[in-house]
Amino acid sequence: MGGALLLAKVVFTSLIVGVLPLTAQGEGRVHHYDFILEETNLTRLCESKMVMTVNNNFPGPVIRAQRGDTVFVNVHNQGDYGVTLHWHGVKQPRNPWSDGPVYITQCLIEPSTNFTYEVNFTEEEGTVWWHAHSDWTRATVHGAIVVLPKEGSNYPFPDPDGEEIIVIASWYQGNLNAELAEDLALAEDLPHSVSFLINGEPGDLVPCSKNTTYRWVVEFGKTYLLRIVNAIVDAEAFFAIAGHNLTVVGMDGSYIKPIHTSYIVISPGQTMDILLTTNQTRGLYYMATREYSSEDAAVTGFDHTNCTAILQYDGVHHSFLSTPLFPDNLPMYLDYRAAMNFTNSIRGLDTPDHPITVPRDVSTKMFITVSMNEILCNDTCSSGHEIVTSLTNISWLDRPLDILEAYYWNITGIFSENFPDFPTTFYNFTGDFFPENIRQTFKGTKVKVLDYNETVEIVFQGTNVLSGSVNHPMHMHGYSFYVIGSGYGNFDNETDPLSYNLDDPPKVNTFPVPKNGWLAIRFVAKNPGVWLWHCHLDRHLSWGMDTVFIVKDGDTEETSMRPPPSYMPPCNVSEWGIPPNNLGGLVGKAGDI
Ligand code: C2O
Ligand code: CU
Repeated sequence: MGGALLLAKVVFTSLIVGVLPLTAQGEGRVHHYDFILEETNLTRLCESKMVMTVNNNFPGPVIRAQRGDTVFVNVHNQGDYGVTLHWHGVKQPRNPWSDGPVYITQCLIEPSTNFTYEVNFTEEEGTVWWHAHSDWTRATVHGAIVVLPKEGSNYPFPDPDGEEIIVIASWYQGNLNAELAEDLALAEDLPHSVSFLINGEPGDLVPCSKNTTYRWVVEFGKTYLLRIVNAIVDAEAFFAIAGHNLTVVGMDGSYIKPIHTSYIVISPGQTMDILLTTNQTRGLYYMATREYSSEDAAVTGFDHTNCTAILQYDGVHHSFLSTPLFPDNLPMYLDYRAAMNFTNSIRGLDTPDHPITVPRDVSTKMFITVSMNEILCNDTCSSGHEIVTSLTNISWLDRPLDILEAYYWNITGIFSENFPDFPTTFYNFTGDFFPENIRQTFKGTKVKVLDYNETVEIVFQGTNVLSGSVNHPMHMHGYSFYVIGSGYGNFDNETDPLSYNLDDPPKVNTFPVPKNGWLAIRFVAKNPGVWLWHCHLDRHLSWGMDTVFIVKDGDTEETSMRPPPSYMPPCNVSEWGIPPNNLGGLVGKAGDI
């Protein structure tokens, strides 16, 4: 026990072990981090409990790199359950082995074992982040990643005088993963958070939180770069700072045309880079966040907390202005118009240094419905039906082996390659009534296979099935995509493409399919591998709103997936009722899965 603690301390204090001049790829520098995952006692909202954290930090440690660098993160799992980590927004070219989603690219890093991720930074610049990608462990296991411009290149805006990281997260009562597992098993509603957090703290307006409110001390007359991460498990959020305007200059590790605004709306998974000038009366100002709920107004069970932190001008004494101003521009929970106004104003930067390369021609078109559904479960659940979510009416089912290893080692019986390009039935997706056969769905493990370099267009169509229309922030691993259009109602494949923006679409990795509407995206399949994509509201992910792209190898080594590292966490297939060392038993059971 004492030995383990001592070891943890030693590793913790030498967090950055070294910076070497060259990577294996011959570009950029190499950094090493040690992440110790362990149960830590935290007290929030008058309750103390054990939660998993990294290096005892909440939020977790910041990874800092320059564009082109490589970061090795050795994850030591000293907690009491298995975990994986994901580098959200990092493309990981040819290297799905380090992408992280459990049962998609790897199995769990079991307690008392470790695994080293190789994180390859290439085209992303700005802020991205990392988080656990198994169960809902990411509620407390997450942190920001800062990717600076390459040596000798600059931001596409004047150098800021300083910077600040703001991680917005959510807090749950009780044992989150235990409750999640129980709710899933009993087909009950999944847990709801009881507060939001800014840099780990709920703020003055939440019980038992006033003494620990997060404070950011600024100097007057400076311009700061604010890096905001939405690490909330299950909600979109509004954010504003009293008395100050925001200039949004980047999103998801790409630059955008500056947006001058008094608030932002940010989906879970998204990151934003924002310039803030401290030009107001020296005083105290609340930075505040609250949920943006796109559900019907009748759905009121969401987290209503107003989470705050304090922006404090240097030299201001606590006695002067003891109550900070609350931002009067922070939209209310259901303000659909405020959310749409902000989201619709996002445009890609498009300069010679940061060009837009949206494909003009498309070789693969997909139309994917994004829906709530139900599955009848007669005796196994109390309500008679299980709530699930689906993509094109298929609700994803995890398998005993990850898709990446099954694909690489040619193990059949794990997934099938028949995720459809179009739904079998077209109906009034955004209407009010749906036939029984539209409401019901089934579970499957169907992936979409793309040839190397295909140009892909996807139209996501939200549905109102079960009166459950809501924004779905769709996130793609291994890629960023251009958002070329979105609209309200059913997509019209003749008129709506006329409104596509092929001039300056933003390049992002997470973007909401609007409630009762559609979203059109494009990307080039130039990253071979196995890549998950899913709704970043974890309740929807846990209910099956995910699937996988397998992008085949090109003709050369540089266009092919790298071979696996010498160690991958073993898959404990016995837990799934399959005898260990008998994967051969799975071979040859191909078919419709
Ligand atoms: Cu932010 Cu699949 O993840
Ligand atoms: Cu969703």
